[in-house]
Amino acid sequence: MINWRKHYKKGLIAIGILLSTSALYNAQEGDPAKGAELFKTNCTACHKLDSKLIGPPLKGIVEKVKAEEGLGRDWFQKWIKDNKALRASGDKYANKIFEENGKVEMQQFPNLSEKDIDDILAYTSNPPAEPAADAKKDAKATDSPDLNAVNAAKASEGNAKIVMISLFAIAGLLIWILFKIRQLVKLNQSEEITALNATRIQSFSELYAKYKIVGQGVVALLAILAAYGVWNWLMWIGVYKGYKPEQPIYFSHKIHAGINKIDCQLCHSGAKYGKVSEIPSLNVCMNCHKAIPEYKGEYLEPGHDRDFYNGEIKKLYAATGWDPAKMAYTGKETPVEWTRIHNMPDFVYFNHSQHVIAGEQAIINSFNKKHPNEQIDVVCKACHGKIDTMNVVQMANDFTMGWCIECHRTTEVDMGNTYNQAYFEKLHDKLKKQYGSGAKITVDAIGGIECGKCHY
Ligand code: HEC
Ligand code: HEC
Ligand code: HEC
Ligand code: HEC
Ligand code: HEC
Ligand code: HEC
Repeated sequence: MINWRKHYKKGLIAIGILLSTSALYNAQEGDPAKGAELFKTNCTACHKLDSKLIGPPLKGIVEKVKAEEGLGRDWFQKWIKDNKALRASGDKYANKIFEENGKVEMQQFPNLSEKDIDDILAYTSNPPAEPAADAKKDAKATDSPDLNAVNAAKASEGNAKIVMISLFAIAGLLIWILFKIRQLVKLNQSEEITALNATRIQSFSELYAKYKIVGQGVVALLAILAAYGVWNWLMWIGVYKGYKPEQPIYFSHKIHAGINKIDCQLCHSGAKYGKVSEIPSLNVCMNCHKAIPEYKGEYLEPGHDRDFYNGEIKKLYAATGWDPAKMAYTGKETPVEWTRIHNMPDFVYFNHSQHVIAGEQAIINSFNKKHPNEQIDVVCKACHGKIDTMNVVQMANDFTMGWCIECHRTTEVDMGNTYNQAYFEKLHDKLKKQYGSGAKITVDAIGGIECGKCHY
């Protein structure tokens, strides 16, 4: 005879274990596996774990600094986010290591969250034996890791956790349904057996009746968990933040858009008018580079010298067939294929002009309100980060559905600008009636979270 009571308990125990393991996972301080990927993307240019590169070796650095200087994680958070500010504040240790390392400036990482930094530190304290072995296997034999693989691994890892939790929850629901079906099937069996079973079922239904509230609570919890998991999976599918591929010509946004203050839209003119921003054709480059055959700037990125930059300009000449000695094109061109960094799936409709023209002021204002320490003047930076400080373009946000919707929920539409006045005249009157004339109207109120607006 099946002991329902026993099985019922088993189920509850399994669910208990499930919930507590997922809670444990979140409670952990710093995830070395995530840290390993972040370290690879951000730090390996200058740091190794075991030996000095441009910066000091970082294995066990938290413990070392704690023991020798009495400084804790706070210090590392500040140092890694903005070491320049920390030095400027007069921090003794920060200035000491700066001196000791020949005053080479470490890069700032304002985009890393506290959690990211905890993850990296967890990795330096506790490096896994062979981090991301799978991603490495496919990597080419260059010293820079294959970032495609690394990022794919990173993305799938994040999703895997959510998918696992929801699968468990769905499994729990299925088990419950099976119990129920079994109960019904039993009821339909021959009378004899039914008579026999009656006692058993009765005892189960009694049990159920007794613990009805607990049972229903568990089912409700599982249902919520499953729905939550599926929703999260949809919202955060494909997290690409940090993706930073190598390009055929080492084109530095820091040197062009930052130091030389060239306007983004001189090169990405499409952003203003159309759906895509476009990468400029090499003719655009040549407008300037016919006259700029050499790099004479003062700024040198650590690890690169003038010869390196001049070599990259030569690549541009080779690609366009420009002969700088004769100041003429030879006609021999070899097209350059830039690796595309941002790329929405085909079923997503994203239009730059909606954001760069109609939404420009609204987005800048809302960003500046949300980030009091990080004011922007160019709308592009709200989504693409501080491109003008990047030598190599890197995805600064997640670019997931959750990211789009979060902004639409929290950004107040600028109903006063000429574009929206004409376009939303009727709608605006309606919204005024609906929300009151002084009310804030965010993008979701004008349809910014309707599926059809972003999906074909
Ligand atoms: C552009 C090169 C560069 C990059 C990239 C870089 N660092 Fe550094 N880092 C340095 C240098 C150089 C120092 C030594 C201090 C100085 O000269 O300012 C340093 C020092 C440090 C220290 C202090 C070491 C000590 O002895 O106390 C830590 C911690 C650190 N870096 C962490 C990181 C982390 C984490 C990353 C990646 C998120 C990173 N660094 C990326 C160059 C870099
Ligand atoms: C002198 C020309 C030039 C200027 C000025 C310029 N860019 Fe670029 N941009 C490029 C080129 C070339 C690429 C492709 C190579 C690369 O990724 O670095 C690119 C790539 C990008 C990408 C990634 C495109 C992708 O593949 O998804 C973004 C985003 C971007 N630029 C934004 C900006 C922003 C924002 C500014 C202004 C702060 C700016 N650019 C200024 C030439 C320029
Ligand atoms: C509006 C003018 C302008 C345009 C357009 C322009 N550049 Fe430059 N480029 C500069 C200036 C200025 C420098 C820095 C020269 C110096 O400081 O001596 C530079 C430097 C460079 C360098 C060396 C530094 C680095 O970034 O690696 C390369 C390579 C380069 N440009 C490639 C390109 C390519 C490729 C394009 C087209 C996508 C392009 N440039 C478009 C003005 C321009
Ligand atoms: C509201 C967020 C947002 C703003 C603001 C924004 N972009 Fe983008 N950008 C995106 C998204 C999303 C993509 C990916 C589009 C795709 O794949 O269809 C993208 C892609 C790009 C690309 C790659 C080529 C392309 O068009 O797909 C470039 C270059 C670019 N943006 C430049 C800019 C510049 C320059 C500005 C400012 C004038 C800007 N962006 C403002 C979100 C934004
Ligand atoms: C930084 C904030 C921000 C982000 C991120 C953002 N948007 Fe928007 N979006 C806006 C604003 C503001 C408007 C309203 C523009 C206006 O005034 O008409 C808008 C409008 C739109 C509209 C038109 C809505 C309508 O009802 O007319 C679409 C479609 C849209 N966004 C798609 C996207 C997609 C797809 C993404 C993600 C890939 C995205 N947006 C990310 C701020 C954002
Ligand atoms: C503001 C724009 C926006 C709105 C509104 C929106 N989506 Fe999305 N959706 C996206 C973007 C962007 C992606 C692609 C994310 C990525 O590739 O990482 C996406 C991806 C998806 C996916 C694909 C997941 C996969 O397998 O790649 C589904 C399904 C989806 N959305 C359903 C919906 C539904 C249902 C709604 C209405 C409730 C909706 N979306 C509303 C922007 C939006």
